[in-house]
Amino acid sequence: MCGIVGYVGPDEALPIVLEGLRRLEYRGYDSAGVAVLDGGLGVVKRAGKLGELEAALDEEGNPTGSVGMGHTRWATHGAPTDRNAHPHLDCGGHVAVIHNGIIENHQSLRVRLEKEGHSLVSETDTECVAHLVEEKLRDGGPLADAVRAAVRELEGAFSLVVCSLDEPDALVGVKVSSPLIVGLGDGETLLASDIPAVLHRTTTVVPLDEGMLVEVRAAGATFTDLDGMPLDPAPITVDWDVARAQKGGYETFMRKEIDEQPAAIRDTLVGRMVGERLVLDELRGSDDALREVTKVFVVACGTAFHSGLVAKYAIEHWTRLPVEAEIASEFRYRDPVLGPDTLTLAVSQSGETIDTLEAARHARRQGSQVIAVTNTVGSSLAREADGVLYTHAGPEIGVAATKTFATQMVSQYLVALYLAQVRGTKFPEEIAEVLTELDQLPAKVERAIALDDQVRALAERYRDARDVLFIGRHTGYPAALEGALKLKELSYVHAEGHPAGELKHGPIALIEDGVPVVAVATRCHVYPKMLSNIQEVRARGARVIAVATEGDTEVGALADHVLHVPATPELMSPVVVTVPMQLLAYHVATMRGCDVDQPRNLAKSVTVE
Ligand code: G6P
Repeated sequence: MCGIVGYVGPDEALPIVLEGLRRLEYRGYDSAGVAVLDGGLGVVKRAGKLGELEAALDEEGNPTGSVGMGHTRWATHGAPTDRNAHPHLDCGGHVAVIHNGIIENHQSLRVRLEKEGHSLVSETDTECVAHLVEEKLRDGGPLADAVRAAVRELEGAFSLVVCSLDEPDALVGVKVSSPLIVGLGDGETLLASDIPAVLHRTTTVVPLDEGMLVEVRAAGATFTDLDGMPLDPAPITVDWDVARAQKGGYETFMRKEIDEQPAAIRDTLVGRMVGERLVLDELRGSDDALREVTKVFVVACGTAFHSGLVAKYAIEHWTRLPVEAEIASEFRYRDPVLGPDTLTLAVSQSGETIDTLEAARHARRQGSQVIAVTNTVGSSLAREADGVLYTHAGPEIGVAATKTFATQMVSQYLVALYLAQVRGTKFPEEIAEVLTELDQLPAKVERAIALDDQVRALAERYRDARDVLFIGRHTGYPAALEGALKLKELSYVHAEGHPAGELKHGPIALIEDGVPVVAVATRCHVYPKMLSNIQEVRARGARVIAVATEGDTEVGALADHVLHVPATPELMSPVVVTVPMQLLAYHVATMRGCDVDQPRNLAKSVTVE
């Protein structure tokens, strides 16, 4: 949520910053702006996507210099206008600030600063930071000290990058909850919200820890805490290659990422099965502690939450432990019964979603063991959890999650099986059998992707629908929720997912002649019930698109269209059945002229509550 990038080195900063912003635009695209230290501060910013900024730069001329920073915004405080775009400046135009997150006490700071004679020109919470730093710099100390002093007065969750004409060779970054990483290049140093933004220059990165401040110069980075004490965080080498963070010939990132699902699943499974045994050393916890667990919570948001709902079925079935899957933003504001005998799985692609992070923190404070399931090495969630299982999906740039959804489910199956192995609730040969099934998922997903032409034809037919319902039972229910989420977030068509059995208690009232209903009706123990539910909606005029098992002829007699996917055990079936639903959303959105990689009002990584 908001993307930050900074560069200090021998080259022109602007093109490097713009390239970084291009890779971060998924974090927000309400406005974009840059500041380059070019003797003065060359600042250009515009409402709208990066293209608007680039057009403005073409018109106004590029600021030149080898120290620069840029920002792409997801608006929270203040409308997405030129004026509210970052960077924000102090009164004299000597200090520039870019920011991700929220300064919660910005209102009182603004009142105080204005009383003291500062003139604030935007409606943002960010701008008060520039004026605070201006104030602190009057004491004559270095920029890092001024930033520290300013941060002491701020409340909220944020990361900041600040530059000043007084120190034209440096950028200062600070992390309080929101993500910030440093990229260590060859004679150059970068700062960014996320790893893809620096991959074009380096694969050596240092994710900042909580309360860490960094001074970035061409020669390297100096890390301190908020009291100025030196720190020495270890760099990590990222094995994502640059190509994987680019479109590679595809029209959109999302379409590429749908196709990458088989490889992503394979990469997530690789090395984790040794013979017939599951080896998850990364969990870092002791097996004894896992034996003591009496209850599991899964906390997550959005698509990750849907993966958690799927995991609930698997964990309960394989381990006989009760599981609650809960939306992270709700979890910590009730009073969940947590303790050392509970295990909390915090699932997040970015590992930075503040709701999930805070839910995990809450669980840890209450004594629960926390295992992070995340795609992002070095993310806050990965570092704060007791154990972590990485989904090896590679960078996902499309705002709508696809390959990370598949790998989140697969990773949670692994956690579930590991629990079963440690607790002895499944025989080793039963676990081996499930592992074999997991191994077959990539090939099945490939076959589901091959439905593309069929799905495109359906999209053509139903692209103008006003409402679409998605229904399913058992694991088909979370799959239906995910199908509906994909369609609504990408194409802005009203879509709802429902448990098929619940239709008759309300949602069936929405059915009228011609309303499309996507029914997850694969062969499993609730299949006959699904057939009845399909008949109920058909009888009221619905047009049914069934996602069914290859070889099934029964459902064809009831549905208007059938998409056949390979037979998959029902606990794992969402990995396969969601694929045609992702494709449906993709095609409908494309046909309706929507931007599938950057749907309106959304951002990929949401670091505000
Ligand atoms: C945002 C994204 C969703 C994502 C959710 C959780 O809302 O648009 O695609 O599922 O955040 O993100 P996370 O990084 O925690 O998995």
